[in-house]
Amino acid sequence: MTDDRLIVALDVPDAIAGLQMATRLGDAVSFYKIGLGMLTGGGLALANELADEHGKRIFLDMKLFDIGATVEAAVQGLSQFGHDFLTVHGDPHVVRAAAQTKGDMKILAVTILTSLDRADLDASLIKSGEITDLVQERAGLAFMNGADGVIASPQEAALIRALPEAAGKLIVTPGVRPAGADLGDQKRVTTPAQAIENGADHVVVGRPIWANADPRAAAEAVLAELRLSDQ
Ligand code: C5P
Repeated sequence: MTDDRLIVALDVPDAIAGLQMATRLGDAVSFYKIGLGMLTGGGLALANELADEHGKRIFLDMKLFDIGATVEAAVQGLSQFGHDFLTVHGDPHVVRAAAQTKGDMKILAVTILTSLDRADLDASLIKSGEITDLVQERAGLAFMNGADGVIASPQEAALIRALPEAAGKLIVTPGVRPAGADLGDQKRVTTPAQAIENGADHVVVGRPIWANADPRAAAEAVLAELRLSDQ
C-alpha cells in the first residue's frame, strides 16, 4: 500500500518531464504537488492526467491571492477537477472566499512564506513581532476563517499543532530533507520523520527525489524512514 504522507513536488520544467518523472516513480508515490512553475507549462493538464489516468492524489500549489470575488471564481473553476489540496494565501478574506466554492478540495493557507525574514516583512509593512508568533497567529486566523489546513515549515508545525483551532486541521510541511541530503535553498529543515513527529500530516519533498539519479530509490528511502518512525 502506498503511503500518501509523502507528497512529491514535481518542480520539473514542463508537463512532459513531469509525466516522465511520475512514470519513473511509479507506484512508490501516490501524491503529487504541482506548483506555479509547472502550471504555466501545462501543469493543470498534467494534474488531471495523473489523477484521472494514474489514480494519483493532487495538490495544486497556486498560492492564490486576490479580491474575494475573483478567488471564489478561480476556486470554483478548479473545484470541478476534484483534486485534493489547493493553496491560497492565509489572509482572512482570501480564505473565506476560497472556502465558499472549494467543493471537495481542501484549502491550505500559506501563513508567511518561509523564504521571508523580518527585514522582508518590514519592507512590506507587516506588523512587528517574531515571525514564529505571526505564523501562529495567521494560522489560527486561517483556521477560524475556514481553512482546512496550513502550509508550515517543520519547525512551525509543532507550534501550530498546539493551537486549539488546529484540532482536526491539516499541516503540510515542505522544507524537509532526508538525513545527509543537500539542503538547496531550504534553511529551516528537519527530516521527514521529525516533521511528522512535530505534528505534520504530510511532508512535501522535491529536489531530493526528482533531482536524484535514482528518484524511485530516493522516494522509497523517505517512505522507509517514515515507516521506521511509526514504530
Ligand atoms: O525541492 P524542495 O524539496 O525544496 O521543494 C519544496 C517544495 O515546496 C517546492 O515546490 C517549494 O516551492 C515548496 N514550498 C517551500 N516552502 C514553502 C512553500 C512551498 O519549499 N514555504
